[in-house]
Amino acid sequence: MAKAFNWQINKEVTYPYEPKRPKRQFAVVMDLNKCIACQTCTVACKTTWTPGRGQEYMLWNNVETKPWGSYPLGWDIKLLELLNGNKKTVLDAPDGERVLGYKPEEMDWMYPNVGEDEVNEPVDIGTVLENFPHPIWMFYLPRICNHCTYPACLAACPRQAIYKREEDGIVLIDPERCEGYQECIRACPYKKTMFNFVARISQKCIGCFPRVENGLQPQCVITCIGKIRLMGFVNPPDKARPDNPIDYLVHIKKVALPLYPQTGLEPNVYYIPPINVPIRFLKQMFGEGAENAVKTYMSMREGKEPEILGLLHLFGSTPQIIHSFKVMDNNAIGYDEKGKEIVRVPIVEPIQERPHKDEKLEVVRQDIP
Ligand code: SF4
Ligand code: SF4
Ligand code: F3S
Repeated sequence: MAKAFNWQINKEVTYPYEPKRPKRQFAVVMDLNKCIACQTCTVACKTTWTPGRGQEYMLWNNVETKPWGSYPLGWDIKLLELLNGNKKTVLDAPDGERVLGYKPEEMDWMYPNVGEDEVNEPVDIGTVLENFPHPIWMFYLPRICNHCTYPACLAACPRQAIYKREEDGIVLIDPERCEGYQECIRACPYKKTMFNFVARISQKCIGCFPRVENGLQPQCVITCIGKIRLMGFVNPPDKARPDNPIDYLVHIKKVALPLYPQTGLEPNVYYIPPINVPIRFLKQMFGEGAENAVKTYMSMREGKEPEILGLLHLFGSTPQIIHSFKVMDNNAIGYDEKGKEIVRVPIVEPIQERPHKDEKLEVVRQDIP
């Protein structure tokens, strides 16, 4: 067993293989204040990658309503029980096992919309919710594979069929090597490897690697209606670059946080927590940094964080991967790897007022009072 440093929980974890950070690490930031659970991402991924036989219940991207939604059923409750109130990471397995885990039942995968749109407790008709956080709340949590720095799925596979790519940190299952042992399914705390009952192998989110290799963001990111997502590459904190959009949100402003960092795997999907939800719940889900993240986001809403505001305008603005960004003169600008400008978005859209009677066209506009 080797030792590996996990910056998210600021401690060493044990890992069965010698840890080696990839040249760069695939990462996604999702702003949970903007997700509307339209499931466009889910459908985009499904139609692109999992429309085949044996994949009927397979959603590499799913969106669940918290607190009651979960896919597969109860995955996070079971995870929290396994971690025994933060006493363990999933890599603290008993002798003879590599990873702490459990395997969902077949039926657990069949209710992806359970708890959809349900609030935390019954609410009287006519209730008005004013101040944040709200006593009555819910929010949508979109989930894909976290392409973890120390993947539990990879650690657990007895066939060594899972590998993490050196060039971008994307975690893949080799279908030629996989023999269907399903140890990866048992091990992944986020339950993001899934079994194909026809092909008799496991399958998982591939980070849309054919797109990433061509400088493009994944399907679930670019099709997002709410523009809540941005894909890029995250550096470890000591190499964070303030002009890298992901580093800026994760390391500099600390407004985007990993999901259940207590698993110990260094997951690489980062969430901007929802401001309407009680902090206690957010801390359990996103770690101690949740309170500050919410405060920073609130400051942005009050106009005190123009760089974050600008950067959020670049979410969903281009299919290309934004490697660096700048906010200036009411514009958010994104650049490619070579520093060439690829997108420019005004932060405040210019307004054009048209006269009721247009003398030039000799028309009267009825929609203007
Ligand atoms: Fe593996 Fe699960 Fe991490 Fe994805 S989220 S890399 S499937 S352990
Ligand atoms: Fe699906 Fe690609 Fe999104 Fe993964 S990154 S969930 S493969 S669309
Ligand atoms: Fe390994 Fe999972 Fe296949 S454990 S053999 S990748 S089903």
